[in-house]
Amino acid sequence: MTRLLHLDASPRPGRAGSQIHGSHTRRLTHHFISRWRTLDPEAEVVYRDIGATPPQLTSVEWIEAAFTPAKQQTEPMRELLAESDALVDEVLQADILVLGVPMYNFGPPAAFKSWIDNIVRIGRTVDFDPQYVAHPHLPLEGYVPLLADRPRHAVLLSSRGGFDFGPGRPLAALNHLEPSVRTALQFIGIGGFHDIAVEHQEEGGEELAASVESALAHIDRLVGELHASMTTPSMPLPA
Ligand SMILES: Cc1cc2nc3c(=O)[nH]c(=O)nc-3n(C[C@H](O)[C@H](O)[C@H](O)COP(=O)(O)O)c2cc1C
Repeated sequence: MTRLLHLDASPRPGRAGSQIHGSHTRRLTHHFISRWRTLDPEAEVVYRDIGATPPQLTSVEWIEAAFTPAKQQTEPMRELLAESDALVDEVLQADILVLGVPMYNFGPPAAFKSWIDNIVRIGRTVDFDPQYVAHPHLPLEGYVPLLADRPRHAVLLSSRGGFDFGPGRPLAALNHLEPSVRTALQFIGIGGFHDIAVEHQEEGGEELAASVESALAHIDRLVGELHASMTTPSMPLPA
């Protein structure tokens, strides 16, 4: 059974296409999950709405608690880390993270950055071992990505008011959303990274409509590919 974590980071509550002033990223994540369910009705989907309820920011108390070994943590430390632990558990259990994240000021909204800071946790999703030199995804030594134990994927579904922020486009160097999320998730061992975005939200009209149609079609293809790759038994090794 495939397990998905469906996460929305837009503070806008409704979905574009269904509600006036609705969120494009919520529309994209909803589309992805609906498509997945048609192919895989048994899939388990956990939902987390950090747009409505942003995770706590890191504080000096949080840092002290997170960097204290689990056996030495006090009860107040454990209470302080309870939300972060719940967010980490959701990530650990998921085969695919479906992340709806708008572009805000060339990067992710604060709620999403806070989620990242809550799930990149020493001893839970990453460890430090000076002997470990073979990070599978990044040119780093000493960091052990604890989620590299099995194939995992992240699907980043974004929306931007402007346009030309995609790979190879004129404003690609100004886009600090997809690259920063990919790096943080690879750091903890999530190897598969896929991103699809709507552009032209501010301009609207035909440009936006075409971008939305293209993103939805791209999602359909990605769902098909990912579903096939996760349900096809791996080939037996030759004797
Ligand atoms: C605070 C804020 C900052 C934004 N910054 C950018 C930006 O840097 N670049 C851009 O193209 N659009 C920017 N936008 C537009 C959003 O990316 C766009 O409205 C997007 O559709 C929001 O996602 P949503 O529809 O899921 O809420 C910004 C919007 C807001 C509210």
